[in-house]
Amino acid sequence: MRPLLVSVVGIWASLAVWAGAKPVTASGLPPLPWGPDPPAAAARDRAAAIAGLGRTLFFDPALSASGHMACATCHDPAHGFSAPDAQPVRLGGPDGRLPGVRAVPGLMYLQTLPPFTEHFFQSDEEGDGSADQGPTGGLDWDGRVDRARDQAALPLLDKNEMANASPAAVVAAVASAGYAGTVRQVFGQDIFADPARAFAALTGALELYQQTQAVFSPFSSKYDAFLASRAALTPPQARGLAIFNDPRRGNCASCHRSTIAADGSPPLFTDFGYAALGVPRNRAIPANNDPAYADLGLCGALRTGLVRRTDYCGMFKTPTLRNVALKQSFYHNGVFHTLRDAVAFYATRDTDPARWYQGRRFDDLPPAYHRNVTIEVPFGDRRVLSDTDVDDLVTFLRTLTDGYQP
Ligand code: HEC
Ligand code: HEC
Repeated sequence: MRPLLVSVVGIWASLAVWAGAKPVTASGLPPLPWGPDPPAAAARDRAAAIAGLGRTLFFDPALSASGHMACATCHDPAHGFSAPDAQPVRLGGPDGRLPGVRAVPGLMYLQTLPPFTEHFFQSDEEGDGSADQGPTGGLDWDGRVDRARDQAALPLLDKNEMANASPAAVVAAVASAGYAGTVRQVFGQDIFADPARAFAALTGALELYQQTQAVFSPFSSKYDAFLASRAALTPPQARGLAIFNDPRRGNCASCHRSTIAADGSPPLFTDFGYAALGVPRNRAIPANNDPAYADLGLCGALRTGLVRRTDYCGMFKTPTLRNVALKQSFYHNGVFHTLRDAVAFYATRDTDPARWYQGRRFDDLPPAYHRNVTIEVPFGDRRVLSDTDVDDLVTFLRTLTDGYQP
């Protein structure tokens, strides 16, 4: 017998029970010299319980005024947590009829997204200092919130989305849900007595769910297998990768980072930076029926702090390209519905503008801001990407879909 160990386990087990967590159970493995690690196990169990609750909330349509709209209605796990179909924007609100103004981003690979800053410094790989990479980070296409728990409050209360009248209304819906008992178990019997505290606990649970690595950052694509030397790219995929990385051709990797970082972290296919690409106006968005309306992104109306930074107008956050092949609407306004169009836009935006724009170039941005639009390679008056290059790029991007089976 190991009386000391048993009593330590016993104490922690009773503490855990007292704290409302599951009692610590023996793993069945031989004990480590310093004994088991019950506090960590209890914390892990509690985190798992909160994340599990977050998952329940994420899929629960009762969290909307209409009773028909869950987070998952717009963020479909089968599409990298982006929209389930090719509608330009989602319809929400109390009667499910009010349109939004932006396309639904995927929710994967956001766990290491830095908080928004106008001056991002990343010590460069040569180690001789760092350069200001400009606006970087934050959630949403314009980086206006930093934490997923604060982000969750936006759709829950937005009148065009889940349209709850108040945080208390959300809490009331949860208090009468079948899993209210689990909420009490996890957060305390009196949790529903204080709606502000309960709302914070619920949005915190949504945040923790979105940090579940196996679901949101599995790194299980063919490209990951390729980086680990467990798979070979086909010739078109390899050509696509070479074009993607070549600064004189695709130049894609300058914003959508494709290589393992100096610290060993796998590429996320975004630097979380901002750029104005001048994507065409999406006339299928009802708000765009008003010619005076334009979504200005980083300087725009949805975020309030940067309205005077006219040099930011038209900029949107660089999205990850992991699982991009699962999307059906591309760019912040969802103007394209095939991955090929989304890539072909880079190839001929400036050499064949009539293919993309109606009337004038950069037709979704007031002329005063056209100078913000990037003209870096692959853009510019000399076409550098052929139609075959576009095909190869698309073929390569399809290797970024998770769930690859060799
Ligand atoms: C009506 C559709 C809809 C619903 C419902 C919805 N979202 Fe979203 N979500 C969007 C759109 C559109 C954006 C982009 C908003 C923007 O950029 O202004 C977004 C953005 C996000 C982002 C930021 C992603 C990024 O790339 O920065 C997160 C995180 C998120 N939603 C989580 C949630 C959670 C959690 C819920 C449920 C509480 C939810 N969403 C419900 C449409 C929706
Ligand atoms: C200057 C930085 C930059 C470069 C270079 C760049 N991108 Fe992007 N990319 C962005 C930004 C910013 C967006 C979002 C713009 C928007 O929505 O208005 C984007 C969006 C996309 C999208 C749509 C993704 C989605 O979820 O809607 C695809 C596909 C894409 N880029 C592929 C590429 C490819 C392929 C290349 C190289 C040919 C490339 N990008 C080069 C910054 C860049």
